[in-house]
Amino acid sequence: MLEDNIIREGDYALIVLDDKRRWIVRIEAGGEFHTHKGAVKFDDLLGREYGTIVESAEHKEFLVFKPTMSDTVLLKVRRQTQIVYPKDSALIVMHCGLGSGSRVVEAGTGSGSLTAILANHVKPTGRVYSYEVREDFINTAKKNLEHAGVSNWVEIRNSDVTKGIEEKDVDAVVLDLATPWLVIQFAWEALKGSGIISSYSPTIEQTQKTVRVLEDTSFGDIQTYECLVRKILVREGKTRPETFMVGHTGYLTFARKCFRQLKKCQ
Ligand SMILES: C[S@@+](CC[C@H](N)C(=O)[O-])C[C@H]1O[C@@H](n2cnc3c(N)ncnc32)[C@H](O)[C@@H]1O
Repeated sequence: MLEDNIIREGDYALIVLDDKRRWIVRIEAGGEFHTHKGAVKFDDLLGREYGTIVESAEHKEFLVFKPTMSDTVLLKVRRQTQIVYPKDSALIVMHCGLGSGSRVVEAGTGSGSLTAILANHVKPTGRVYSYEVREDFINTAKKNLEHAGVSNWVEIRNSDVTKGIEEKDVDAVVLDLATPWLVIQFAWEALKGSGIISSYSPTIEQTQKTVRVLEDTSFGDIQTYECLVRKILVREGKTRPETFMVGHTGYLTFARKCFRQLKKCQ
């Protein structure tokens, strides 16, 4: 058994009954997790490996997994704001080229859902500097980051990002706030050459305004995407997409810092 794959007291576990009924719980000796299909006894899990299956007294089987960051964001993050969903976060991480050691400025922190995903990618040697104006949101985000186990790699700044960014030579600036165009000049100053800005906006009007300002601020390779994810129900003889899906979250714009603007005739 792999040592770090053993369920111990204080660990979190993802308990799955079916597609819709899944929970993240903290494992305590002597504790139980109650569902309408019976209870999962934590003593049955302690010392066993993630991936184990346990049965309730009602003979219902529960699958016990190690929670991923995506599970944590969807099931455990307390939401005080709209959050960035894993499908969009994945695109942000890839297009910003983030990895261990990356230094990222983010705004606004909100519930800290995207912050947790960014921190999980830049650890153990990188850092996320996350700007947020609302103290009540900061308190929630801090708790969420603690739960996600990534607070060591995040510095939260209770500051208005449209007034300036302290950091210099960062790899990426990641924006999820109502007026990203007001941050673009400061993002340019904070980024290293070729550094990447990402902006997430729910409306086309915000996106158009952002792109216009990016074009006027020496950013190049400007690209906007929408990410639609459709779940497929795979069943013998009747495999098809699920009837309902999340139709819209936001538009994602990415651009890279250049040292001067393109000539207009290009
Ligand atoms: C949609 S929420 C961000 C959600 C976050 N990305 C998440 O996944 O949990 C937008 C946040 O930006 C913050 N905000 C708005 N304007 C800001 C500014 N000028 N500086 C810093 N934060 C700002 C808001 O208070 C709000 O918490």
